[in-house]
Amino acid sequence: MKTIVITGASKGIGFETALSLLNQGCYVVAIARSSEELEQLRSQSSSKNLLLITADITSKEELEKISSEVAKLEKIDGLINNAGMVLNRSFLETSQEDWRSIFDVNFFAPVQLIRILKPLLRKGSHIVNIGSMGGFQGSEKFPGLSAYSTSKGALAILSECLNAEFSNEGIAVNCLCLGAVQTKMLEEAFPGYEAPVSPKEMGSYISYFVLNAHNFMNGKIIPVSLNNPD
Ligand SMILES: NC(=O)c1ccc[n+]([C@@H]2O[C@H](COP(=O)([O-])OP(=O)(O)OC[C@H]3O[C@@H](n4cnc5c(N)ncnc54)[C@H](OP(=O)(O)O)[C@@H]3O)[C@@H](O)[C@H]2O)c1
Repeated sequence: MKTIVITGASKGIGFETALSLLNQGCYVVAIARSSEELEQLRSQSSSKNLLLITADITSKEELEKISSEVAKLEKIDGLINNAGMVLNRSFLETSQEDWRSIFDVNFFAPVQLIRILKPLLRKGSHIVNIGSMGGFQGSEKFPGLSAYSTSKGALAILSECLNAEFSNEGIAVNCLCLGAVQTKMLEEAFPGYEAPVSPKEMGSYISYFVLNAHNFMNGKIIPVSLNNPD
């Protein structure tokens, strides 16, 4: 049985990815701040192979809690850095604090999680970082998303850099740059926009990707987008 750790599993894409992994027989470690929403995973899946960790991934103490809980499992086969936050504010109206908050969740938390969980990743495991088309070079950019898109761009390049350091240990790192998916985050960033992809569809794709794609690609930054806003 494969063990997969996923952040941001309380709602949206992360919730559906976790559910899909549970339905495929994986052991899932699901992390987010909202314990009640995380509990919905328990009620919506008949699988018992689920560990819920209520934690804020930007908190040093709570990262330590994640580390000690996951260490009890011995080895893991995958880490999906999915938790994220968006800010739709024009560049000149953003503060240093805005930039720090976005980078804390979207970039520094994945950096820390990879650092603390690396010793537990077995040979043949797969780290999947969830980026955005906003962080993919050459895509159409949207006003107001400079902090968000820049943080996702950093996450994408981190994925390439870690490939250079981890591939000789059999640990693959890829970044999926998602296009629009109908979630609360999208509704916040683009009110009224109707995305062509549902969280369930994207969750099904990401669960397939984390379990299989590292046999075919490593260190790749991959656009996963049907149309704009991308
Ligand atoms: N939806 C899109 O169109 C789209 C497009 C491109 C990329 N993405 C990326 O896809 C990922 C998932 O997005 P989504 O649309 O599913 O968003 P969402 O519905 O807003 O879900 C975000 C998840 O991140 C968790 N989270 C946020 N801050 C956290 C923190 N400090 N500690 C722990 N967990 C935290 C939230 O849980 P709690 O609030 O319970 O902590 C929630 O489970 C994000 O990385 C996003 O940037 C989404």
